Amino acid sequence: MSGFIPQSFIDDLLSRADIVDVVGACVTLRKTGKNYSGLCPFHQEKTPSFSVEPAKQFYYCFGCGKGGNAIGFIMDYENIEYPQAIESLANSMGLEVPREESVQLQQQRELNQRLYDVLQDASNYYQQQLRKHPEKNTVIKYLKDRGLSGEIARDFKLGFAPPGWQNLLGKLGATTDTKKALLNAGFLIENPENKRNPIYDRFRNRIMFPIRDQRGRVMAFGGRVIGDDKPKYLNSPETPVFHKGEELYGLYEAKQKVRKLERILIVEGYMDVIALAQNDINYCVATLGTATSTSHLKKLFKLVPEIVFCFDGDNAGRDAAWRALQQAIPLMEDGRSARFLFLPDGEDPDSQVRQIGSKAFVNSIGKATQLAEFFFENLCSQVDMESLEGKAKLGTLAMPLIKQFPAGLLHQLILDQLAKITGVDLDTLSKMSEEKSIATESHPNAPAEQPVFVNKPVDTSNKKARTKSTHSACRKAVNLILLKPGIVNNVEVNSSIRQLNNSDADLLFEVIELAKNTAAKSTHELLASIYGTPIGSQLIQLQDREQITPASGIESEFKEIVQYLARIAKRKETQNALLAEARKKLAAKKQ
Ligand code: UTP
Ligand code: MN
Repeated sequence: MSGFIPQSFIDDLLSRADIVDVVGACVTLRKTGKNYSGLCPFHQEKTPSFSVEPAKQFYYCFGCGKGGNAIGFIMDYENIEYPQAIESLANSMGLEVPREESVQLQQQRELNQRLYDVLQDASNYYQQQLRKHPEKNTVIKYLKDRGLSGEIARDFKLGFAPPGWQNLLGKLGATTDTKKALLNAGFLIENPENKRNPIYDRFRNRIMFPIRDQRGRVMAFGGRVIGDDKPKYLNSPETPVFHKGEELYGLYEAKQKVRKLERILIVEGYMDVIALAQNDINYCVATLGTATSTSHLKKLFKLVPEIVFCFDGDNAGRDAAWRALQQAIPLMEDGRSARFLFLPDGEDPDSQVRQIGSKAFVNSIGKATQLAEFFFENLCSQVDMESLEGKAKLGTLAMPLIKQFPAGLLHQLILDQLAKITGVDLDTLSKMSEEKSIATESHPNAPAEQPVFVNKPVDTSNKKARTKSTHSACRKAVNLILLKPGIVNNVEVNSSIRQLNNSDADLLFEVIELAKNTAAKSTHELLASIYGTPIGSQLIQLQDREQITPASGIESEFKEIVQYLARIAKRKETQNALLAEARKKLAAKKQ
């Protein structure tokens, strides 16, 4: 159904429907005073925070914040769009939804219908040629050699555009009108300079793959050469009924085959979709030679909660996967999942499934990399994770992406993970990413001036915060000694750090002394030597924190931290000297 639904009908529908009935059909409601309450269908809960107000004809959940009128409830509950929700509500009340259409829209629809008709006729013709054309055997042999059965060819309505310049034109383009429709649907190529054939068939001597929309209407074709000629595939051009960047090959077929789709696998090629279907993996779609777009993903997430991207394991595949990940991020609401399946180098899903079989392939889909994992794997590979600068850079790379996640579990998980990996607390991470994006513009290679450490909010712009950051830096240094006591013998620690004059700096020097005196080689040995003493229990508490520095990076991180502390100590010394001088001058003036 298309066209406008008159607002008067919607108003009437809402005034006749009772939200208590609408919601009550899906949720067990109990009367509580004037209102009704129940368990919210939109989030997990044990005690009811979902309430329906008959007086306002409105529902609201105090738990998750969802709320709206009867139509809104149906949209959320059935996960459908506004017009469909109106249809659904009207239906349940035995009403027909009236539609109004503008003249312009009507005309467009008629034109489009003509395109759909000619596309369907062409599809019939190509299929018929695959059964009847004198050269059909070459084509059938090609398909059979690629492992396809007649049944799969039928499911996907594969066809054959025979060799020759004007087959389709001759068959379907008898009148000016039909010729125009063929032209508009992208079947003909006009070339006035070609005197013999000023207008001719686009698809010649190719295997034809009809591309169908979600309702099963043919909207375009892909045509493959039989053999190794170039270009391998020709596709229909953009037309009023075909927008290649938004469509997915195989989606209609998947919906036909699987009653309740639970996941969808996105692959790159027509033949991948078909070969997977041939191997009983019927939930695959392909983009049409374009990168995966947000509109692709939106479309798929309306149908399934889980999308698995399938890419080559090579660099190009990983780059494409990273671009797909970026498209997916803003859509990663709770309950949705996106994963990445990387194939061995040189394989595509078609070759892979034929090689390892359906079961093993499904298995590998099950084990595909989670979005969060790929996210960090990719970003960490771009920086030197053993240096503080590298970790700071990781923060700068990650934060702008993290900000694009919708609020929810995955967003939180990724933030937590980033804090864990970098050892920097969340508040600081956000601030750093804002500051750094300005700083990096003028000094692309400038190292992070002030590294900050372990789970303490730090605002480096004021003195109090700076003190705090030296505190946590000292504790981090202590932690590193605990992990690898031997580092105190290899790294020189400037005694000016003592002048920072804080308890954590004192602790640091105590532990350095301890490590030197006991000559302990492991955390265990060090702690054993001071077990039961006050400093011992203090250290055990510190040591309980999660280890986030890889063993090989401990020493270099320790070195960077003590250098940082020495810089701060020096700065403090200079400041104190200036302050003393200022005081002196002031005192002199007063006299
Ligand atoms: P592939 O070459 O991976 O396609 O290109 P495929 O389906 O695996 O092909 P074969 O038959 O096994 O060799 C991926 C997609 O890129 C687009 C098509 O949509 C194709 O399915 N493409 C590729 C083109 O549009 N034109 C081309 O010449 C090649
Ligand atoms: Mn292939």
